[in-house]
Amino acid sequence: MALLSCQGVEASYGNIKVLKGIDLEINQGEIVCLIGANGAGKSTTLMTICGILKASAGRILFGERDITAMAPERIVGLGISQVPEGRRIFPRMTVVENLMMGAYLQKGVDTRAIEAVFKLFPELSERRSQKGGTLSGGEQQMLAIGRALMAKPKLLLLDEPSLGLAPLVVERIFETIRQINAEGSTVFLVEQNARMAFSVADRGYVMETGKIVLEDEASALLDNEMVKTAYLGE
Ligand SMILES: Nc1ncnc2c1ncn2[C@@H]1O[C@H](COP(=O)(O)OP(=O)(O)O)[C@@H](O)[C@H]1O
Ligand SMILES: [Mg+2]
Repeated sequence: MALLSCQGVEASYGNIKVLKGIDLEINQGEIVCLIGANGAGKSTTLMTICGILKASAGRILFGERDITAMAPERIVGLGISQVPEGRRIFPRMTVVENLMMGAYLQKGVDTRAIEAVFKLFPELSERRSQKGGTLSGGEQQMLAIGRALMAKPKLLLLDEPSLGLAPLVVERIFETIRQINAEGSTVFLVEQNARMAFSVADRGYVMETGKIVLEDEASALLDNEMVKTAYLGE
């Protein structure tokens, strides 16, 4: 059974339908990527999985559980955490306070979880009392990922973690995505950087205007003529 499955999922903003019947599956232990042009509906897909936006049709299953109509905080409690596009860290809070916000559903301060994040990102450990807003873009991305990890997710959703970061920092972020996956979290990665996404993912989906148009092993997508032309600039 898939860890997450979206079946015919539709979602709208007002009367504009953005997701027009999404079918996808993510299996336990995988890194799956979702690529597509700006405006295709990638972020909307993640928002709908998280329950922030409600699906107007179809269903979303997490294991055996139907989470389609569930409140976002219950979905987090079941083990799905999102790293939103643009990081959305709290600029006036310190690194440690930002991390604690990611564990707000748990009782008490989980110092072991904080130390686990610092082990993954030593860069943050050195800046634990620094305000989030004073961190570099790459450090803010690490903080956003660390905050999501505080909830100990079974499934981590990442929305364009490479956006606006220098190539070396992107390498660093992708290295930690591999590590997070190796330590037991399944990963669903939204990216515009298709080449990086396919290099880290097991499988991928390609989305165009609210629909999945292609699905394959990441290595096969790298060789696909349509993908090469439209997303790899070859
Ligand atoms: N809050 C919103 N209100 C209205 N329309 C939105 C909103 N967010 C996104 N959209 C529209 O939905 C479509 C898909 O957006 P999005 O999911 O953000 O795409 P992507 O993440 O693939 O770039 C776009 O046409 C976008 O303009
Ligand atoms: Mg987006």
